[in-house]
Amino acid sequence: MTNENVILTGFMGTGKTTVGRLLAGRLGRAFVDTDEMIVGRAGKPIAAIFRDDGEARFREWEAAVAEELAGRRGLVIATGGRLMLDPDNAAALGATGPVFCLAAAPETILTRVAGDDAKRPLLDAPDAARRVQTLLQQRAAAYARFRPVMTDGRAPQEVAGDIAAALAGGLRDVLPVRSPDGSYNVIVGDGLLAEALTLAGVNGPVAVITDSEVGPRHAATLQKAAFSEKSGFYTVLTMPAGERHKTLDTVRDLYDGLLDAGLERQGTIVALGGGVVGDVAGFVAATYLRGVAFVLCPTSLLAMVDASIGGKTGVDMPQGKNLVGAFKQPRAVLADVGTLATLPAAEFTAGLAEVAKHGLITDPLLWQRLMMEEWHYDPRELAADQLRRADLQSLLARAIAVKRAVVEEDPYERGRRAVLNLGHTFGHAVEQVSGYSVRHGDAVAMGLAAAARLSARLEECSPSLPRLVEMVLARLGLPTHIPPTLDPVALFAAMRTDKKKEAGRLRFVLIRDIGDVFVRGDVAEGVVMEILRESCVDQ
Ligand SMILES: NC(=O)c1ccc[n+]([C@@H]2O[C@H](COP(=O)([O-])OP(=O)(O)OC[C@H]3O[C@@H](n4cnc5c(N)ncnc54)[C@H](O)[C@@H]3O)[C@@H](O)[C@H]2O)c1
Ligand SMILES: [Zn+2]
Repeated sequence: MTNENVILTGFMGTGKTTVGRLLAGRLGRAFVDTDEMIVGRAGKPIAAIFRDDGEARFREWEAAVAEELAGRRGLVIATGGRLMLDPDNAAALGATGPVFCLAAAPETILTRVAGDDAKRPLLDAPDAARRVQTLLQQRAAAYARFRPVMTDGRAPQEVAGDIAAALAGGLRDVLPVRSPDGSYNVIVGDGLLAEALTLAGVNGPVAVITDSEVGPRHAATLQKAAFSEKSGFYTVLTMPAGERHKTLDTVRDLYDGLLDAGLERQGTIVALGGGVVGDVAGFVAATYLRGVAFVLCPTSLLAMVDASIGGKTGVDMPQGKNLVGAFKQPRAVLADVGTLATLPAAEFTAGLAEVAKHGLITDPLLWQRLMMEEWHYDPRELAADQLRRADLQSLLARAIAVKRAVVEEDPYERGRRAVLNLGHTFGHAVEQVSGYSVRHGDAVAMGLAAAARLSARLEECSPSLPRLVEMVLARLGLPTHIPPTLDPVALFAAMRTDKKKEAGRLRFVLIRDIGDVFVRGDVAEGVVMEILRESCVDQ
């Protein structure tokens, strides 16, 4: 931990001031509370400022305090409940260190506030419980960008301990994934590639499989991991980048490379790259010497939130995508947000389509964050902007949690996993008919919008849902319509041959509401054709 500030936010009654003081004691730092600073300067209590000067004046005090504190370091800062909801304040303070959001259930908040003379009047109304609930809901998406700390049933001392532990652990998000072949952790963090192998618990021989784009940029960082000198065996195999190399020929070359290098049964294969590298290296790890240990270090947004979770690996055949493969669970998945800073902007945007899909499937709050915050940017900005990396890390962790829940429920893709295909039936047809000139993520975005239109047409959702989906996709820089150069009839034919079809009727994942999707197997072909015609237009 450097000299960064530690900032606490959260609803009233979550214990920011008490926890902040304890934490400052533990870390040996100075403590400040923004409300106390304002009261000191105004020379009167907050209630009096509101009464005499109005809320707007109070918010000005807050902004001034935020700006001032942004110029200082080494502090633990407890902020008033709404200070960090202001984007300018959040940007100013968030740039100075990690922000923790203390959270509690509405009942806990009511109980705590009832015991506090200063705060009680604020909630002294017969419908206080409802008001707290509504306010929590309104602020949920804004608070969600900060690192959550649960305080229910925990003493302030314990909460301070949790935060100190998170700081000591390098502020990583650790998401355990249960699978039939044992559990593993997905770890999301900033700059964890340099420690990746230690974090994954690898201490024997290692072969890294990467591609010609990612290898030159990131393989050296991975190799710096201290263990490599100890283990004495470390080799890097580089495959050519791109989907068209996701083939058995590449797999054979990699087998050759591993045999030449002499990787034995107790060795570990580490995939360093996007989804293509992960799929190929995973298949190699599943089959080389009848299987060796496997670790994934995804470096594209899509690989982090989608391809690396769930144990599917494989390669393409001339007959179609992903036709040969195996289930192979990794020992760990290490997603370093920092590596995204070298990702081409178009790849970054394409990955956001899968994040949007995850929001639509089960997570309205994730969806809301896509709607409220700015995510369409050049990933190069990440290199210089720690706050942005922290924001992205929290978004990734949330998106990964969605896929984790689905694959835990259905590890071998027999039922529930079908919902992950939302937007993909349309999307695959677009990819195929365009001769794969449309990027997967872009095709998925077009597919998500088409699935929303189809859901509305079948009266499964509100008529306004398609507009909402289009608006969010457009904000992310993603397409919402299929290029009119693609023929709806050809797209329809591609969809009919898709393996998800059942006699004369088509199977689709449909949307009931944001965060609520289901599979319907009896969608009439005529309706699908109509939606395709509606969707193939210039934006
Ligand atoms: N196994 C699964 O469950 C699953 C799920 C979804 C997708 N996939 C597969 O994932 C693949 C798509 O993944 P993708 O979008 O990551 O494609 P990709 O691996 O081809 O990566 C896209 C491009 O970005 C480059 N790249 C990746 N990370 C980089 C970085 N940090 N800096 C610079 N360049 C970087 C790659 O070299 C490549 O040129 C498809 O083959 C798809 O079938 C698998
Ligand atoms: Zn996809």
